[in-house]
Amino acid sequence: MNFIIAKDYDAMGRAAATIVAAKVLTKPNAVLGLATGSTPISLYKELVALYKKGELDFSNIKSFNLDEYVGLPPTNDQSYIYFMKDNLFDHINIKKENYHVPNGNSSNLEDEAKHYEKMIKDAGGIDIQVLGIGPNGHIGFNEPDTKFEKVTHETGLTESTIEANKRFFNKKEDVPTKAITMGIKTIMMAKSIIILATGKGKADIVKSAFFGDIVPSVPASILQLHHNVTVIVDTEAGEKIKKHI
Ligand code: GLP
Repeated sequence: MNFIIAKDYDAMGRAAATIVAAKVLTKPNAVLGLATGSTPISLYKELVALYKKGELDFSNIKSFNLDEYVGLPPTNDQSYIYFMKDNLFDHINIKKENYHVPNGNSSNLEDEAKHYEKMIKDAGGIDIQVLGIGPNGHIGFNEPDTKFEKVTHETGLTESTIEANKRFFNKKEDVPTKAITMGIKTIMMAKSIIILATGKGKADIVKSAFFGDIVPSVPASILQLHHNVTVIVDTEAGEKIKKHI
């Protein structure tokens, strides 16, 4: 694993954007795996800025998002499709038919999950997967103790994730309890991965995920076995790993 400790949140986003931009420049039809949450917003801001300066062209880029809540309409500002349009897709020249977010409103979530997995495969697989990390070590919505061999699937959210994500909703009861997510296996099949973390609230999980045991109770720990992972954290999130790298 490679580690980058950036000085703050914006620098973390810039470091991540450099890696994504290098891929977009060298492989104009690359397939990006994208994440939501508050963490990657500085990355998306930087990518939009590079696009606006004329330095990046997304016209042949494809993307697949990690996950989506079940049951939120796409017009709900907490749905992940809304988030992606608001923070990235509506500000760059990626084609509508080329970006994908799982459909959490499908009447058959099992079929939707299979179809999503097949679309990723048919696109040639993911070149760079962007990840955040939940305070309990979840990646996408792969909660602790999810089997490492799972591909895209429907899942329930743990109490800790509902608690962590309630800050985005009016009240806790509004947080969906289910989601559709790429599985750990889907994520591990990506050709390269960047995982981002910011703030002191993530310092413990960053240490246990990347310097602790590889165990299903810490889903992100499996990334230690991937051949091309870059962990990009800010000073606060990197506080407990700096002496190990
Ligand atoms: C959500 C998403 C994850 C994300 C995590 C962390 O649960 N499903 O993909 O990594 O939250 O969010 P944040 O970046 O806001 O801390």
